[in-house]
Parts: sequence; C-alpha cells; structure tokens
Amino acid sequence: MTTPTNTSAQGAGGPADNPLRDPLDRRLPRIAGPSGLVIFGVTGDLSRKKLMPAVYDLANRGLLPPGFALVGFARRDWADEDFAQVVHDSVKEHARTPFREEVWQQLAEGMRFVPGEFDDDKAFETLKSTIEGLDKARGTGGNFAFYLSVPPRFFPDVVQQLKKHGLSQGNGDSWRRAVIEKPFGHDLASAQQLNRIVHDVFPPEQVFRIDHYLGKETVQNILALRFANTMYEPIWNRSYVDHVQITMAEDIGIGGRAGYYDGIGAARDVIQNHLLQLLALTTMEEPGSFHPKALTAEKLKVLGAVVLPEDLGKHTVRAQYTHAWQGGEEVLGYLEEEGIDSKSKTDTYAAIKLEINNRRWAGVPFYLRTGKRLGRRVTEIAVVFKRAPYLPFESGATEELGQNALVIRVQPDEGVTVRFGSKVPGTSTEVRDVTMDFAYGESFTESSPEAYERLILDVLLGDANLFPRHQEVELSWNILDPIEEYWDKHGRPAQYAAGTWGPAEADEMLARDGRSWRRP
Ligand code: BG6
Repeated sequence: MTTPTNTSAQGAGGPADNPLRDPLDRRLPRIAGPSGLVIFGVTGDLSRKKLMPAVYDLANRGLLPPGFALVGFARRDWADEDFAQVVHDSVKEHARTPFREEVWQQLAEGMRFVPGEFDDDKAFETLKSTIEGLDKARGTGGNFAFYLSVPPRFFPDVVQQLKKHGLSQGNGDSWRRAVIEKPFGHDLASAQQLNRIVHDVFPPEQVFRIDHYLGKETVQNILALRFANTMYEPIWNRSYVDHVQITMAEDIGIGGRAGYYDGIGAARDVIQNHLLQLLALTTMEEPGSFHPKALTAEKLKVLGAVVLPEDLGKHTVRAQYTHAWQGGEEVLGYLEEEGIDSKSKTDTYAAIKLEINNRRWAGVPFYLRTGKRLGRRVTEIAVVFKRAPYLPFESGATEELGQNALVIRVQPDEGVTVRFGSKVPGTSTEVRDVTMDFAYGESFTESSPEAYERLILDVLLGDANLFPRHQEVELSWNILDPIEEYWDKHGRPAQYAAGTWGPAEADEMLARDGRSWRRP
C-alpha cells in the first residue's frame, strides 16, 4: 500500500540511480536517499525506546543511505560522543535486530549533538551549521526531517525557530519535513490552532503526523484483507454485520507518565487517534488507489459519517483503575499514583458507542474500548455477524452456537481468527463454535518490523500513506469532543479493579443493547 511520491529523495546511491531497478518492483526494498534526521526531545522515553532503535534497525536492514546523519537536540551538556553513547545503550537494549559492530560504526560517524533550549537562537544557529557540515561531510544533500518528540506545548516554539533560522525550507531539490508526535491538540480548537502554526512553517505535504498504529503490519493488513480478497467484502456491511468491537487493552498503568496522562485520559490518548484510525480502515470504502490522496479521501468520508448516540450517559463509560492485585503483584489505584491529584477525573478506561450514517453501515453499532491495567495487553477488531435467519436443526442442537465473527488480532499474537459453527462429531447433530486461524508467525518467516521503523523510513522516502492528514485529526476530535464535554459536566469516572476487564458499567452499556463484550 505504498506509493513513492518523491523520487527526488533518491539521489546518489539510491535506487533511482540503478537503471536495472524498476521502482515499481515490490520485491526490492525501498531505500532512503541521502538524508538525515534531527530529533528534538532526544532524551525522552519515546526516543530511547523506539526512535533510536528504529533508526539502527533500518540501518541494519540496509534501508538507510551510507551517509545517513542523526542529530540530537536537547537541554543537555553533551558532546557528540556522549550522545552516541546514549544511542548505543538504547540500541543495545531495545533494537529488534542483532547488534552488528560495522553497522553501528557507520551510523555513529553521522551522529551529532546540539545542546540548547527551544528558545535559544544560538542553539538553532548551531543546528544550522551542523546540518551544513553534515551535508559536506556525509553527503546528506540538505534533506532533513525534524522529529518533534517533545511535549505539545513546545511544538509552536520549535517550528517557529526552524522557520526563523531558515531550517524549514530546503534549497533547490532538497527537502525539509516535520514529524509530529501525538497528542495533536487536546480538542478540535487546539488541533486547528496547531495545524495553522505548523502549516505556516511547513507545507501540508511535508508534515508527517505520527499515529504509530498505522505503522503496524496488522493494521496495514486490514486493507489487504478487505481489498485484495473477494470473500469478505460481500458480507462487510449492515446486511450481515451485527456489530463491531474494537478493543485496545493494556496491562500496564500510567508508569512515570503522570504529567502527560492526567487531564488527557484514555479517550484522548488512544481513542481519538489509534482506535478511530482502526475504525476508519475497517469501515471505509475501497479507494481508487493507494495514493495518499485517495486513501485520505475515503477515510475522511467515513469519519465524517460517524454519529454519536443521543444519550451519551447511556452509551459511553469512563472509569479509573483502583488498587488491586494484578498478576501476583500489588498495584496502586490511579488516584494513588505518584503525581496524580487524588480528586482527578481523568479516565484510564473509556468505552464508547458510535454509528456510521451511510448506506453500508447505517444502524450497525461500533463499540470502542480501551483501558490501562486491564486483564492483559491485547488489541483486536472483532466483526461480529448476525445469526443465520433460520436454523433447520432440532431444538437444542445449536444452543452452543454463538455468532460468527472475524477477529483481526492486531497484537500480540498477530493474525486473523474466523469463528463459525461446526457439527460436533457423533451420531446426533450438535453445532458448536470452532475457529480457523491465520498467524503471522506460522505463515511468514520474516518477523514484522516495528511500527517506527516503517514510519521513519516512509518519512525519509516522502511517502505519506501511513500518516493521518490534518483533516483526519480534526474530524477525530470532532467525534470525541462532545463526549469529553459530556463527561466533564456529568459525575465522576466509574471504577474497576486493576487486572479486571473494566467497570461493571461498561458491561451494562452493552447489555442494554442485548450484547456483551468479547473476552479477548
Ligand atoms: C501510545 C499511548 O500512543 O500508545 C500510550 O500514548 C500507550 O498510552 C501506547 O501505552 C500503546 O502502544 P502499543 O504499540 O504498545 O499498543
């Protein structure tokens, strides 16, 4: 589902230079052209656990140009070597692929560190000369992506500094791109304001907003499953689908992220982005092609058709985990976590019901839920089908038969399960649920790349397919804002013991519709 959109990214040594290489041949890996990555907020968790290891894994897979440059910018008194050591430790601890000294050496030669604050003009001038130096020493060709892995309140400062110091525009054929981590605003108004600020500096096609769920293989596979096959599309609609459940459960608490999480909560943290993207991919119409514009157009149509239930009190639930024993470990309740106000109303669990007003989906409920400190870590999309209109069996024969379902297992244990009824062997007729399974681990020998590997590579290639456009982000806030407003004005979050599958109120929410949550 990729369309290289910028061949100018592939200069000397890149695939475009090989006349024997057909750029449309999918068997050949796409390799980034001369370029570098500047990370702001390089000392943060995301950078150490995901970004630096992903850069190394890409280099190790031969997908980065030999002269690739990695620049760290942070408020630390570090020399280039200190930065390289930090990257080294993070790669050793978190990289997916084995450590190879020769790959490391090559990468380390292109590492630079710029110390400074975001309002420090001198630091940005140093960044500018560092980039110019890298162009000369490493042949990066002026092509740089700026990764903003910083708290959102700093986004405006950083992009404006890039503009002020002439860093946001390349010369001639070279490119400059901005990569922006979530959260992209905290409601529609703040997202729109942020979009204005960012677009004042970078043209929209050079802004890459990260939703790391789109970098996951299993998420990209939703489109392959639906549009490369014939057997699912005919039943993928209101005539056959009873309802859809999208679950993202985590067993971890908020860890050391109180500062980020409190006031944001589960719905803003993951429903607004990850789960609504999963919903869009599951429900959108077939795009004319996998060109970013065509894909975005279809996602926008379906997100624009989402409607909320009239009674948000009955069809949404938010809750907080309470102190309990989870997997043999005693864990704190949300309100007792360090850095959390004991009166906080922030949701660590959220469940909402949505509908989609179009011909394909009218009347089909979509239930989205997410939570911290739930039973286990699992993300799945379960498309649950209607019961057969008539069952010509003796009474009792189908008592054990549930509803047919197709479950996209996003993680862990990536794959797809189909659940259907089958006759139990024997002389009498009894039909019971069985499952048929596709598991990535069994069907493919290659392990899936980490989401950030794919996304960083796509930024360097200028391929925007897996990055939500600003209209998608805004439409998603448009869906969530009324729910957040309702919660703000009505009562407090419900409670659930850590390690369980959420509050009783969420079960009641589904029971009211005559349904129940799947136990993933
Ligand atoms: C992030 C959220 O976007 O996704 C985190 O901010 C969450 O709160 C994380 O833990 C989960 O990602 P994954 O890939 O482990 O499902």
